[in-house]
Formats: sequence, C-alpha cells, structure tokens
Amino acid sequence: MRNRKSIQVIAVTSGKGGAGKTTVATNLAANLSRQGKSVMLLDADLGLANVDVVLGLQSRSNLSHVLDGQCHLADIVINGPEGIRVVPASSGLQRMAQLSAGEHAGLINSFSELPYPIDTLIIDSAAGINNTVTHFCQAAGEVLVVLCDEPASLADSYALIKVLNQHYGVKRFQMLANRVPSQEQGFELYKRLLKATDQFLNVNINYIGTIPEDDYLQRAIRMQRLVTSAYPQSVSAQAFARVADRVTKLKSEDELGGAISFFPEQKVQRQTSHA
Ligand SMILES: Nc1ncnc2c1ncn2[C@@H]1O[C@H](COP(=O)(O)OP(=O)(O)OP(=O)(O)O)[C@@H](O)[C@H]1O
Ligand SMILES: [Mg+2]
Repeated sequence: MRNRKSIQVIAVTSGKGGAGKTTVATNLAANLSRQGKSVMLLDADLGLANVDVVLGLQSRSNLSHVLDGQCHLADIVINGPEGIRVVPASSGLQRMAQLSAGEHAGLINSFSELPYPIDTLIIDSAAGINNTVTHFCQAAGEVLVVLCDEPASLADSYALIKVLNQHYGVKRFQMLANRVPSQEQGFELYKRLLKATDQFLNVNINYIGTIPEDDYLQRAIRMQRLVTSAYPQSVSAQAFARVADRVTKLKSEDELGGAISFFPEQKVQRQTSHA
C-alpha cells in the first residue's frame, strides 16, 4: 500500500529525438538515489530501448517477458549504479512499440505489486508523440520536457505539450533546457516556450533548470557511466544536482498534498476533484 500512496512519478519526454531524455532520466535518478530515495528507472522506449546500454548493464529478461506473462515485473528489475533499480525494456521488437491501452494500464498497475516501496519512478520516454509516450505521461504526476536550443526541439515540445493538454488532460509541466551554453540561455529558451504556450494553451509550465553542453558528459557516456558519478565536479553534474534538488521540492510544493499516484483510476479521481 505504501507504493500506492507516496510514489512520485516523473515522465521524461521531449517530442524530438536526441534532446537528452535518457541522459536526464539516468542522471536525475542517480542524484535522487544519492539523496536516499528509493528510485526506479523505467525504460519506456519500448521499441528501441537503451537505458541498459547507457548504464552498461546486462539484462536477461525485460518488459516483453512480463507482458507475455513469462515472469513478474519484480523478476526483471536489475540493479544499476548509485542504487538505482532499472526496469529494462526490449530493443527492436516492433510489438513492444505498439502496446494497447490495456497493456499499458496493466504494466502501470504492476508497479503496485513490487515487494519493496519506491519513492520515485522515473520514466525515460521514447521520442515522438505516440501512444506509449502519451499514456505514460498521462499516468505520471510530473511531465518533464527536455528542450534543446533548436527550432525543431521547441516546435516538437510545443506540439507534445499541446497534445498532452488537449487530448490527455495534462496541465502541469516541468521544463528543462539541455545542451545550451549557459544557465541564462536555458532560461531564455524557457521564456520562448512560454511565449508560445501562453498564447495558445492553458497550461502551467515550471522551469526546473538547465544542463549545459558538457564534454565531460560525452566522455562519461563513452565509458558507459553517468557524468554525475564519473565527473561529479563537472558543470553538467553540478547542474543535475541542482535540478534534483528542485525536483525533490516539487513534491512538497504540490498543491495536491504531495501524494502523486501512478494509478490511472486515482489520477482520474484527482483530475475530477480538481476540475
Ligand atoms: N548536456 C549535454 N552535453 C553534451 N552532450 C549531451 C548533453 N546531453 C546529451 N548529450 C549528447 O546527446 C546524445 C543524445 O542524448 P540522449 O540519448 O540522452 O537523448 P534522448 O533524447 O534520450 O535520445 P532518443 O530520442 O534517441 O531516446 C548523448 O549521447 C550525448 O552524446
Ligand atoms: Mg533516449
């Protein structure tokens, strides 16, 4: 029951591919875990998974085996760096990228059956605006949108926010700028996004921080390590620590009392009661 009450679920998404979702999801997970939280990282890039590759992990079974009924979710969880638990997806299986709404719901609900409590569940989304992305974002308490300073990134993020808002009832978003030269430019990017959303959408977008472009981050990736572990003094690692602090505070600032549910029936109730 503890899982059902206290889990904070953060879907990391971007619309555009390559914006830095996996980088953000993994490094954020590491920082929150270091703060003493029990963190689960779900690789939700169900068709083309790579969290395990990024973290240098080997998995024998993955989500496709759970969906096929061959094992339980708990059986496929692997231990990652910094105490993170990882739920690996399967790579390259077309079927995994085309799950039905019922299969998504079943997967989501199976998190309540894990034999240990989770404080934070971070979902690393696939690129694009497909059902997997929208269903996971709808079910999450926080949708963290990663933007780069490129017209396509801004346009795709806007499109994703619009779809999530208009078709899936998501009103609250966190925005993170990635690969920009400075914090100031990251905030400028946020203002550009707001200019578009304020004009056309009724959404609440909160600036959660900026991760600068950093060669150390790329070096860490080549070593299959996290920059926060391999180069904790680097500018990107320091920025991730600040973002993690803000993410932690989000929970206590949550007007709904901090309890964020990953369970669709409760989420629907929550939306209805705050409509
Ligand atoms: N802050 C940064 N500084 C330098 N390089 C970065 C930074 N963020 C991401 N990168 C580079 O961009 C690449 C893509 O990042 P990442 O895999 O996190 O993107 P993604 O959004 O998950 O991509 P996909 O849409 O394919 O899942 C990384 O391998 C890394 O080389
Ligand atoms: Mg990725």
